[in-house]
Amino acid sequence: MTVHLVGAGPGDPELISVRGARLLASADVVVHDRLARPLLPLAAPGAEIVDVGKSPGSAPVPQSEINRILVEAGRRYACVVRLKGGDPLVFGRGAEEAAALAAAGVPFDVVPGISSVLAAPAAAGVPVTVRGTSRSFTVLTGHEDPELIPLAWWEALVTLGGTIVVLMGASNIAGIADRLCSAGMPAATPVAAVHAATTPAQHVHRSTLDRIGAIPVPSPATIVIGDVAAIDLRSVPGV
Ligand SMILES: C[S@@+](CC[C@H](N)C(=O)[O-])C[C@H]1O[C@@H](n2cnc3c(N)ncnc32)[C@H](O)[C@@H]1O
Repeated sequence: MTVHLVGAGPGDPELISVRGARLLASADVVVHDRLARPLLPLAAPGAEIVDVGKSPGSAPVPQSEINRILVEAGRRYACVVRLKGGDPLVFGRGAEEAAALAAAGVPFDVVPGISSVLAAPAAAGVPVTVRGTSRSFTVLTGHEDPELIPLAWWEALVTLGGTIVVLMGASNIAGIADRLCSAGMPAATPVAAVHAATTPAQHVHRSTLDRIGAIPVPSPATIVIGDVAAIDLRSVPGV
């Protein structure tokens, strides 16, 4: 009678937590997103699998319907896993699902996952902080139209300094880069766009702020902007 909101990690099935894998192997029902599909072989053979993920070109399952499925499954089964890409509470609408379960009186808990915020830069050999280079990192959604966000907000971001990590920004990267340039970020600022991190399809596109918009970056991608994006620890001798 518990719904476990489990972070699946960024894609590589070895990057789910031990607790997440144990719950997945014992769940009666697994309700999963598209980016969590590589983890499904870890589910018990008899488990009911419910795919609520968005596929390119297909209509997404409304969030209200996902909430309803979770509440119903939580009332009927002993162990329900809601498997979400990365961490369930990072741009994943996990908070809305938790609120729906709480409102319905269905017990739930949250099993954190390795977010693509950290996994994608790491897989590309990019450290998000480096002493003397970047003392902070800021995580943004790239889903909103960058033109509709006031320039003062972009200027505040540039003034803050540090590394910028953009999720859901593949299709808006040209606009995001334009806004950052308009806000005073140097055109030569390094950018690393990491596609499908930790999966066999992983690809890293390296560029600069004034050029990244011309490079087609397929989704899913995590985009790292800042001086650290020029680093590739994988090519440093001895590392
Ligand atoms: C709806 S958000 C969910 C984020 C997720 N909760 C997390 O913590 O990673 C989906 C976005 O995460 C990023 N993402 C997820 N998996 C990724 C991967 N394997 N490689 C690069 N970026 C990924 C992309 O920016 C994608 O558009």
